Amino acid sequence: MAVQPGDTLRDTATETAVRFRQPEVADAASIWCLVRESGALDVNSQYAYLLICDHFARTSVVACDAQNRLIAFVAAYSPPHKSDTVFVWQVGVSAAWRKQGLAKRLLHQLLQLPACKDTNFLEATVTPSNVASRRLFAALARDVQAELNISAGYEACHFSTESSHEAEELFRIGPFQTQS
Ligand SMILES: CC(C)(COP(=O)(O)OP(=O)(O)OC[C@H]1O[C@@H](n2cnc3c(N)ncnc32)[C@H](O)[C@@H]1OP(=O)(O)O)[C@@H](O)C(=O)NCCC(=O)NCCS
Repeated sequence: MAVQPGDTLRDTATETAVRFRQPEVADAASIWCLVRESGALDVNSQYAYLLICDHFARTSVVACDAQNRLIAFVAAYSPPHKSDTVFVWQVGVSAAWRKQGLAKRLLHQLLQLPACKDTNFLEATVTPSNVASRRLFAALARDVQAELNISAGYEACHFSTESSHEAEELFRIGPFQTQS
């Protein structure tokens, strides 16, 4: 049976109090708060996170602590013209939970989703100054033994001059080893 939004996902890698599941609409406000407090992510409208939790729930994952508080999320989707690719739009971990392998586990959970069964590549854009994020995707590529290619993504000039925004480099991981 397909995994539905709200279902608990198994994390076989480690036994911890963290629970992974696909998002539901009721998670959107918590994700928005986490993004606002992250200090590094672009804060999109609350409506955008509602769309993620509704339309893109099958390719997104949230992590909750033992008290069922949302502590991390990855919002992703398959670009319409690239059915073999999952694009990570945003990934964020609450400050207290960082550097404990949680973001990497979220990405592994994402790749194990039924909706990602034909996924051969994972993409994300990352700014040059976001060392944590760059290390995260490099670590994932190492874990899944796939190549990591970094190329030009969105240039700084693509953003409004009213807000200074760094360039976003395109990270592309894959192809993944085919599962037997
Ligand atoms: C980026 C972020 C999601 C990483 O989450 P995390 O749970 O701390 O990451 P993990 O513990 O899974 O670490 C993954 C890898 O990144 C490295 N890493 C994590 N934070 C790091 C930091 N601040 N500096 C250097 N390396 C870091 C880890 O050492 C690990 O690499 P390794 O396996 O080679 O040792 C988190 O720092 C965050 O939420 N930042 C704010 C939001 C953001 O920038 N999101 C990414 C852009 S979409």
